[in-house]
Amino acid sequence: MDIKKTPLSFFLLIILFFIHNFCFAIDTISSAEVIRDSDSDTITSLNETFKLGFFSPGNSSNRYVGIWFSTLPGDIAIVWVANRDNPLADSSGVLRISSDGNLVVLDGRQKVVWTTNVSVGTNSSRAELMESGNLVLREVDSRGSNVGNTGRILWQSFEHPTHTLLQDMKFGANVRTGEKEIITSWKTDSDPSEGRFHMELEPLNIPQFVLWSGSQRHWRSGPWGGNTFLGVEGMSNLFLNGFSVNRADQEGYVFALLSYVKKPLFVRYVLNSIGRIAETRFDEGENRWVEDWSAPLTQCDFYGKCGSFGFCNLLSSPICSCLKGYEPKSIEEWNNGNWSSGCFRSSPLQCERNNTNSDEGKDDGFLKHEKMKVPDFVNSERAPDMEE
Ligand SMILES: *[C@@H]1O[C@H](CO)[C@@H](O)[C@H](O)[C@H]1NC(C)=O
Ligand SMILES: *[C@@H]1O[C@H](CO)[C@@H](O)[C@H](O)[C@H]1NC(C)=O
Ligand SMILES: *[C@@H]1O[C@H](CO)[C@@H](O)[C@H](O)[C@H]1NC(C)=O
Ligand SMILES: *[C@@H]1O[C@H](CO)[C@@H](O)[C@H](O)[C@H]1NC(C)=O
Ligand SMILES: *[C@@H]1O[C@H](CO)[C@@H](O)[C@H](O)[C@H]1NC(C)=O
Ligand SMILES: *[C@@H]1O[C@H](CO)[C@@H](O)[C@H](O)[C@H]1NC(C)=O
Repeated sequence: MDIKKTPLSFFLLIILFFIHNFCFAIDTISSAEVIRDSDSDTITSLNETFKLGFFSPGNSSNRYVGIWFSTLPGDIAIVWVANRDNPLADSSGVLRISSDGNLVVLDGRQKVVWTTNVSVGTNSSRAELMESGNLVLREVDSRGSNVGNTGRILWQSFEHPTHTLLQDMKFGANVRTGEKEIITSWKTDSDPSEGRFHMELEPLNIPQFVLWSGSQRHWRSGPWGGNTFLGVEGMSNLFLNGFSVNRADQEGYVFALLSYVKKPLFVRYVLNSIGRIAETRFDEGENRWVEDWSAPLTQCDFYGKCGSFGFCNLLSSPICSCLKGYEPKSIEEWNNGNWSSGCFRSSPLQCERNNTNSDEGKDDGFLKHEKMKVPDFVNSERAPDMEE
């Protein structure tokens, strides 16, 4: 009896091994494969950090194709959405490589609701979900023989972020072509379509992050100071490195790159639907996502709160004051708590004074101010020391 049983359980083990492989270890979609919502199909990155498949956000019953952290308990953390502006109403959707080589999402009537929309040429292609969370569409030569990561990259989700920045994702702008990456908030927690807020890296001569509310500047990080953004506290300070900003390369591309020394580390920067950019980390001790940092948070964080030549201090009342030598442009607005018009210079500079009579005002000099952002659109100049 026992002798008869052994080959059977051995056989079962082999089947289980194959089922396990089939369900969890597949990280690519080739031309023959179809990911069906109705079968709850997903693909999983090599070490199972990320999953790609269909999901419904929040209270919505709409179906979307997205990428999320796969192994973490609790709420699934969506990091990318394909058809964010074009939801599927039921679970008849499929994700596949179309006959033109693009990765597409089709509804039950075979209508394209989303496509990578690139030109593939005569070769075929294959999509792969990388361990970083990047979904990469690669060229596969006509014999389908280039196994591994050798084919030319035709499209990648890291170049088309939705509302989340992940480690190893380059986020930037090209100063020559004007092309840039942006992240855009969801409309609500149950609706991933494009909301009111977006963020970009502004490639000024010193780059900075700028968060927009519609066409209005809403928050800015302040310029990159070499180790951190000058004007934010606590951003990426929890870990070694964090953001680094790279100056324009040969092609004119300026980008910020989020990377930590400690890996694997589950961390993401999310622009949420109320217009806040937040650093969120999975805390293995607490077994949940925790927010380490976010902005804008206080009244003083909002762009131009106290207007030009004004400054903001949460501990004073009112919170806005004019710099020394400046007065409110409109006393009435100022007294009503509308500080946006800012301040004007009330005592002329030395070079503006006509009178050569020496006792009419002191020589111009510099005042040191701390805990303030430098002005927007600032230029930098290297000086050997303070005196200079
Ligand atoms: C996957 O995990 C193995 C074992 O922990 C590790 O050696 C390998 O570098 C990981 N691969 C990736 C792509 O993260
Ligand atoms: C879902 O609906 C409940 C009840 O209306 C609400 O409290 C909750 O915030 C909603 N969740 C999301 C993600 O919108
Ligand atoms: C694909 O790209 C072309 C050219 O950029 C554009 O005109 C077209 O609308 C796009 N199609 C879809 C379905 O996004
Ligand atoms: C097809 O792919 C192979 C290998 O990736 C490449 O060498 C070749 O140039 C490609 N052909 C075309 C027409 O793109
Ligand atoms: C504040 O003043 C500015 C400039 O006069 C005006 O455009 C804006 O509407 C005012 N804001 C509010 C909230 O009243
Ligand atoms: C300086 O002189 C010019 C021309 O006479 C005049 O317009 C200006 O108001 C004077 N400035 C001050 C600060 O007195």
